[in-house]
Amino acid sequence: MQIKKVAVLGGSGFVGSAVVAKLAASGYLVTVLTRRYDSAKHLILLPNVSLLECNILDYHALNSALRGMDAVINLVGILHQSRRASFNTMHHQLPAQLAKVCADLGIKRLLHMSSLQASSTAPSQYLRSKAAGESALLALKSQLNITIFKPSIIFGRGDRFINLFATLIKFLPVILLAKPNARFQPIWVEDVASCFVNSLQNSATYGQSYELAGPTDYTFRELVQKVMHTLGLQRPIIGLNDTLSYAQAFMMELLPIKLMSRDNVRSMEIDSVSQHPIPAILGVQPTALEAVIAEYLVDKTSRGAYDRFRSIAAR
Ligand SMILES: NC(=O)c1ccc[n+]([C@@H]2O[C@H](COP(=O)([O-])OP(=O)(O)OC[C@H]3O[C@@H](n4cnc5c(N)ncnc54)[C@H](OP(=O)(O)O)[C@@H]3O)[C@@H](O)[C@H]2O)c1
Repeated sequence: MQIKKVAVLGGSGFVGSAVVAKLAASGYLVTVLTRRYDSAKHLILLPNVSLLECNILDYHALNSALRGMDAVINLVGILHQSRRASFNTMHHQLPAQLAKVCADLGIKRLLHMSSLQASSTAPSQYLRSKAAGESALLALKSQLNITIFKPSIIFGRGDRFINLFATLIKFLPVILLAKPNARFQPIWVEDVASCFVNSLQNSATYGQSYELAGPTDYTFRELVQKVMHTLGLQRPIIGLNDTLSYAQAFMMELLPIKLMSRDNVRSMEIDSVSQHPIPAILGVQPTALEAVIAEYLVDKTSRGAYDRFRSIAAR
């Protein structure tokens, strides 16, 4: 079947915006389901993209929003639980309900975002809930053509991870780093988006799960050093032992802005690295962090800030 109309859940987010832009550029008619029109309005200038406010946790609302679609992409995810949204609701119940709606409406194609190292025995609730979501989807494998993607951390313009450390490095004299030896294999957001778009109509990817990791693995400390190098700043990094890592995360949970939780530290108990290169079928040669980091952190460097002021002054 030729896929034309694609609904994206979580399309307003960091990864979602890249996926939606690539879908639009490839000629798909894209509908982004969002809780609030305002969070997704940066997408309306893209050709063939429309926004639909929807409570995706309500079966009937989701059913009516997805009617007439040829495929659905689910990119909804949270890093921190709140009173309104738990890992179980967002990572397990939502995909389970989404798969049911797709089956009920006869929408066969479903692409879903999980996470590298998601497993029922993983140390964090985040990773266990992602695994529960995968299982719920795969239970409907005989009725749906499902593809699951499991990335390590994702970098690119607007990412949370690298940008958070760039901001902390700028403002703090010393970096107290939890789990400094935890390993990551970061992948570029544009490569992740290409994997989704390239697999959409490729039947060989039906029923498959793909780990997505970049070309290099780094310790947490090495990643922070790379950010410092890019910004042209030097800060001492003090690696915290496990007890202090959890104590720091506990203190951060008390802040109004969620930076790091104990569950995030638990996720780092296992390295977010993959033994499997991205398969050729996805058509992506992963891009190195070093190839793009300077370009997307440019506003955070003093040179970048200077150029920005200069261009504003010249206006
Ligand atoms: N970024 C990474 O490094 C990384 C690594 C591994 C896996 N992932 C996974 O990739 C996916 C996308 O991540 P991201 O970094 O793009 O996240 P993001 O920028 O926070 O976007 C998440 C999206 O989920 C939707 N969402 C969040 N909370 C919701 C709620 N309570 N109810 C309904 N919708 C909600 C939001 O849509 P609206 O606000 O428009 O409703 C938002 O667009 C997630 O599943 C995440 O777990 C990300």
